[in-house]
Amino acid sequence: MCSETMPVRAIVAGATGWLGSAIAERVHGASGLELVAAVGRSRAGYEFPAGAPGAIRLAGATEAALAVPADVFLDATQPAAAVVHAKAALERGLAVIVTATDQRLRGEYERLGALALERGCAVAVIPNLARTLAALEMCARALGRHFPQAVLTDHAQAGVREPLNTTLAIADILRAEGAGVTVSSVRSQTPVSQLRLRMPMPHEELEIRHTATAVLAYADGAVAAIERIPGRRGLLNGLSWIFEPTSGTPPGSRREAPVGPPP
Ligand SMILES: NC(=O)c1ccc[n+]([C@@H]2O[C@H](COP(=O)([O-])OP(=O)(O)OC[C@H]3O[C@@H](n4cnc5c(N)ncnc54)[C@H](OP(=O)(O)O)[C@@H]3O)[C@@H](O)[C@H]2O)c1
Repeated sequence: MCSETMPVRAIVAGATGWLGSAIAERVHGASGLELVAAVGRSRAGYEFPAGAPGAIRLAGATEAALAVPADVFLDATQPAAAVVHAKAALERGLAVIVTATDQRLRGEYERLGALALERGCAVAVIPNLARTLAALEMCARALGRHFPQAVLTDHAQAGVREPLNTTLAIADILRAEGAGVTVSSVRSQTPVSQLRLRMPMPHEELEIRHTATAVLAYADGAVAAIERIPGRRGLLNGLSWIFEPTSGTPPGSRREAPVGPPP
């Protein structure tokens, strides 16, 4: 079953990838977390992190990694594979975090949520791991009904989809709250990813801006999610739930760390 004791034991799949390697390294170094297994098919058997104290050996398959006792499974592989891996992890009673997402798999995520409820734990489907974006989403949800107009502008590297899926998701939230929404995208050579929400009023304006400058922004969001998913139940969409207390958190369980700036 999902454990609420310390340290939180985590398994990361996709540990040879851009995102998964950053997450797995962060988990390995995080106090209160323990990287008990990691999957990297192309480097199975290699030490991870190479040469680090307490390094583990990469597993060649998710099933092998899931044989190791753990509390949380995080997938950073590829959306269709992540659904298969998530189901296997939930069946073992682990809390699951899916970071390789695709909105076309929404039905699969609903089914994973039902399985998680049945097993007494949670599955989080997180299209964007940046905590500042999750905070912006919370603001949109809370304020949308009070501002008649909202302007969303995303900024990313040339070639990245216009607009970002996260931009569209936040536009949907604002529209559901009754705001009129305009969406635009800017693409350039910068590696920085940004989303700006402006809510203009006749003689004043509110502006909220999320900026992620490195993959470590996502790795730190993943660490926060791993720390805070034990004790939750069912399907969790996005990341903003990390800002909410776990209902029924037992005394003596992990104190929620403040969200700091990106390193
Ligand atoms: N939520 C977020 O904030 C966020 C941010 C960035 C990216 N993403 C998403 O995260 C995923 C990974 O992105 P990335 O840039 O890290 O990609 P990447 O560098 O290609 O890494 C993916 C890794 O997953 C493994 N993999 C691929 N297919 C697999 C399968 N069928 N079964 C098991 N392992 C498989 C591969 O390693 P091996 O072949 O060695 O196993 C590969 O190194 C993508 O879906 C991307 O869109 C999410």
